[in-house]
Amino acid sequence: MLPTDVMPPRVRLAHIPTPLQPMERLSRKTGVPIYFKRDDFTGSELSGNKIRKLEFLMADALAKGAETVLTCGGAQSNHCRATALAAVKAGLDSLLLLRTENPEHPPAADGNILLDALAGSALVWITPDQYRRRDEFFEREALRLQAAGRAPYIVPEGGSTALGAWGYALAIEELVADLKRLDGGAVLPTTVICAAGSGGTIAGLALGVRMSGAPLRVVGVNVCDDRDYFITIIDGICREFDHTWPMEVPAGIPDYEIVDGYVGRGYALSRPEELAAIRDLVRLEGVVLDPVYTGKAYFGMLAELAKDKECFGERIVFVHTGGLFGLFPIAEQFAGLT
Ligand SMILES: Cc1ncc(COP(=O)(O)O)c(C=O)c1O
Repeated sequence: MLPTDVMPPRVRLAHIPTPLQPMERLSRKTGVPIYFKRDDFTGSELSGNKIRKLEFLMADALAKGAETVLTCGGAQSNHCRATALAAVKAGLDSLLLLRTENPEHPPAADGNILLDALAGSALVWITPDQYRRRDEFFEREALRLQAAGRAPYIVPEGGSTALGAWGYALAIEELVADLKRLDGGAVLPTTVICAAGSGGTIAGLALGVRMSGAPLRVVGVNVCDDRDYFITIIDGICREFDHTWPMEVPAGIPDYEIVDGYVGRGYALSRPEELAAIRDLVRLEGVVLDPVYTGKAYFGMLAELAKDKECFGERIVFVHTGGLFGLFPIAEQFAGLT
């Protein structure tokens, strides 16, 4: 059990526990038992990993008397969409800093952007260069809101903070219960694989494994940047976590691994082979991944297994972290593949 006595306040937003499903045909094909933890089932409009983090971040926003939640991401950010909808559920407004090449001509209101707009979120389009300086924009918007008498609350990129990491630390408790049921008691060694985009999910998983002591190996496939970048981010989140909630558990950075080499053409850019892997899984298991995160992580997992069937040990749990809405805006890229 995680130390719930130190757990920060939480609002219930996610439909959890999510199912742990065996992928029987995929397992036969790869020669390794593979299960999917269906975190795309955490909600319908709130589908995906972000909502587990937002349970803690929104509770903090409410406790601090916030009226408008600000966050940021790429144009098709799942995190921004989830934040916009979670804000509605909490009775708050939202403002999103969204990255696009030309803010004068923002992308069409498709996929996540459509949902952001439907949620009534204020969309502020900024260039990639401005996005790198997003703290200035957060400050500018926060000051503007304060001047208008609205209390702002900033959720950093991806909700990937020590507070947000509680969501995935708790998800490990859920997964351990799933595996105990599956294994009839003690948990057998298992490798848990997820996509790493802003690092909060894998940081939470690693912290949860450290707290639970379960024989789980945590592996992230980065979908942008590189291994060193993620180690800096993830270790930073873990250090802040330990500093904020010191516990009677072995301290120090928890174990996790980053499998680099599958960024491909770059963040949110797909290669035909990645899209083909997404299509093939739909046809094999009836499960739909997204092109930006889970599709790339899944492609990376399969590529590593093709090199060495035993590289992830005896059993894999792939965390399906959602992202379905990001598939529709790239529909035409599937045209040549279907
Ligand atoms: C669908 C999906 N999967 C995975 C991730 C990566 O999670 P994290 O940002 O916590 O590394 C994201 C992040 O935006 C996401 O939207």
